Amino acid sequence: MSSTPVNVTVTGAAGQIGYALLFRIASGQLLGADTPVRLRLLEIPQAVRAAEGTAMELEDSAFPALAGVDVFDDAKRAFEGTNVALLVGARPRTKGMERGDLLSANGGIFRPQGEAINSGAADDIRVLVVGNPANTNALIAQTHAPDVPAERFTAMTRLDHNRAIAQLAKKLGVPSSEIKKITIWGNHSATQYPDIFHAQVGGRSGAEAVGDEKWIAEEFIPRVAKRGAEIIEVRGASSAASAASAAIDHVYSWVNGTPEGDWTSAALPSDGSYGVPEGLISSFPVTSAGGRFEIVQGLELDAFSREKIDASVRELAEEREAVRALGLI
Ligand code: NAD
Ligand code: LMR
Repeated sequence: MSSTPVNVTVTGAAGQIGYALLFRIASGQLLGADTPVRLRLLEIPQAVRAAEGTAMELEDSAFPALAGVDVFDDAKRAFEGTNVALLVGARPRTKGMERGDLLSANGGIFRPQGEAINSGAADDIRVLVVGNPANTNALIAQTHAPDVPAERFTAMTRLDHNRAIAQLAKKLGVPSSEIKKITIWGNHSATQYPDIFHAQVGGRSGAEAVGDEKWIAEEFIPRVAKRGAEIIEVRGASSAASAASAAIDHVYSWVNGTPEGDWTSAALPSDGSYGVPEGLISSFPVTSAGGRFEIVQGLELDAFSREKIDASVRELAEEREAVRALGLI
């Protein structure tokens, strides 16, 4: 076991994703079993007591890799010296709330968190935003952390990526381990584009292996893109353990690299690749090596894929305009 613990801050620690996430981090699945972790939990004052209860349960688990747990209700303190920040806490949309109200409420969370990361986090800080609307919340935080390299701010589309793998594996009757190079493009919303034309299954493209474009367009894509809503309808609450699992996968891939011959999906600030306007936090196919995500280059996009990517990117540009108009970035 290496000696210096990695500081991991989790916001929304008393929420349902937090509860599923913290035990997996503490058991060594975020960074590797040999890397000790010190957890820093951030909650709003009303939920601090619940977070303290979770901290007690973490202590009771006697995880060998857990070096300690601290609970905060102050962002500045929670992000001090942080190496990995998982921004899970967000303001959910409630009945009668307009989109602008939702963006404003989240601006009130992600702006101060971005500022706190800028002033106090460790030099190697990596940020994953899970709280919705994840891409635009990440943009707000990133804008308010001008001293942190922009590419250290990412938003989560790994859950969509995993959902796409699962749906394709089920359709083809193969284990999920046989599906490679799935891509989620665009926003973590119903406009996202899960792409199986570049995916590989046993030497063929995912689309070839399926051999049914109608299924792809009319079943696969909407099922993956609307899976979050389907879970809410069936479970009565939004996905939690699968979201936590995807957050673990995202950070693990970022820190430890992606396997040879495969890639994953992550939303990160666009460098203009594939015509996505620079700075938008959009999902791309990415590999990771040496602790850095790189956008996979040179994929050919046919008219179908192009149109789907453009639609999701348009939505991201509209969200950016909306938060700009609200003075949040
Ligand atoms: P939840 O309501 O159970 O928990 C959210 C927690 O965040 C609450 O405990 C709340 O007190 C806390 N919180 C609110 N504002 C905070 C702040 N300023 N600082 C710290 N904590 C704060 O919600 P959940 O089910 O855990 O989901 C959390 C978020 O993740 C939601 O926005 C949800 O939509 C989103 N989500 C994203 C994905 C994805 O794939 N990107 C998937 C599932 C859920
Ligand atoms: C999901 O994809 O499961 C969530 O983003 C859904 C939601 O709105 O919380």
